Amino acid sequence: MSQIKIPLDWPNIGDLEKEYVLKALDSGFVSTAGPLVKEFEDEFAAYLGCRNAVSVVNGTSGLHLALRLLNIGPGDEVIVPALTFIASINPITYVGATPVIVDVHPDTWTIDPLQIEKVITDRTKAIIPVHLYGNPARMDVVMEIARQNNLYVIEDAAESLGSTYKGRYTGTFGDLGVFSFNGNKVITTGGGGMVVTDNDELAQRARLLVNQGRADSEKEYIHQEIGYNFRLTNIQAALGLAQMKRLPEFLAVKRRNASIYRRELQNVTGIRMQKELNEAESSWWLFSIVVEDEFDEERDSIMSRLTAKGVQVRPFFTPLDQQPCYSKYNIPNSKVADHLYSGGINLPSASFLTEQDVLDVCRELLER
Ligand SMILES: Cc1ncc(COP(=O)(O)O)c(C=O)c1O
Repeated sequence: MSQIKIPLDWPNIGDLEKEYVLKALDSGFVSTAGPLVKEFEDEFAAYLGCRNAVSVVNGTSGLHLALRLLNIGPGDEVIVPALTFIASINPITYVGATPVIVDVHPDTWTIDPLQIEKVITDRTKAIIPVHLYGNPARMDVVMEIARQNNLYVIEDAAESLGSTYKGRYTGTFGDLGVFSFNGNKVITTGGGGMVVTDNDELAQRARLLVNQGRADSEKEYIHQEIGYNFRLTNIQAALGLAQMKRLPEFLAVKRRNASIYRRELQNVTGIRMQKELNEAESSWWLFSIVVEDEFDEERDSIMSRLTAKGVQVRPFFTPLDQQPCYSKYNIPNSKVADHLYSGGINLPSASFLTEQDVLDVCRELLER
C-alpha cells in the first residue's frame, strides 16, 4: 500500500491536548474519578445549549444506554435508516428489540420521513435518525411523525457535532442525542461518547446506569439497577476539554474544505454530492461523493487510483440490510441506500487539511 499523503479522518492533536492530558496525568486522576469528567460534560452541554450531558465510553454504548433509558426491549420495534454505520443498529439488538430498517432520501442520504410512516406499527417505540457524515436529517418532519405516533426519538449524532438544523444543534431535538468521540470523529477523546438530554430524570438514571447501577452519592455498594461500566476516564475528559476549545477551528476548516470540494466538483458529469437542506448546516465530518455511470469510471477503479497516489478514501457503509448479520431484516425497498453505497466514496476530510490538499484530491480524482 502506498504511503498516505492526504488522510481521510485522522485526529487533530496539538499542544493544547498534550498540555491538558499531562495535567490530568500529573493530578493522579487517571481513571473515572477526577474533576475533568464533570467539567467536560458541563462544557459539552453548554455548547449544545441542553440541560444534561452524560459521558460514556463510546457512541455505541451511548445508543445502548439511550435504548435502556427508554425501557425499549423485547417486542418493541425501532426504526433505523439503511445507510449508516453498524453501531446505529447493534444496540437495538443488544436490548432485545427488533430493528426496522428504512431507506434514505436520495438528496440528503439521511432517513427518509416518507419511509418511516410506512413501517410504523403498534409495536414501534422509537426512531433513530442518523445525521450521516454530519448532514442533519429532516428533523422537523421526523419529530412531527414521532409526536403524532407517540414515538421516542434517539438522534444518532455520532458524526454531527456542530451541525445545526434550523439554528439548533443536532442531538438536541430528540428525547436523547448520542455523540461519538472516536479517533476519527469531529472531536476525539481517543474513544468516548456523550448522551445528551433535556430530561433531568433520564439524565439522572443515565448516571446510575453508566456506573453499574450505583448512585455516585452511595457510600455502600448498593446497585439499584443492573447497569454497565460505561464511564469515561479523567484522562479522556482532559483530551475532550482541549478538543472542545478547538472545535470552532475544526468546523471552520471542514466547512471551508467542503465548499472547495463543492466548487471544484459541482459541474462534473456523473459526480453527485450530499445535499444540505436549506435549513441545515452540516459539520461535513466526511465529505463524500457518489459516482454515477456517466462518470465512465467505476468506483473501485477510482478508489484504487486515489489510494495509489496517497489519497486516503473509503467506501460508504454497507447498507444495514445487506449486512450478513442482519440479513433476516432484509427490506425490499432500500433502493436509494443500495445505489448510494455502490457509487459512494468518502474523500479526505481531516480538520487539518489545507485548501491545497483539497485541490490536490480533486485534481487526482478528475485526472483520468
Ligand atoms: C453513525 C454512527 N453511529 C454510532 C457510532 C458509534 O460510535 P463509537 O465508535 O464511538 O462506538 C459511529 C462511529 O463509530 C457512527 O458513525
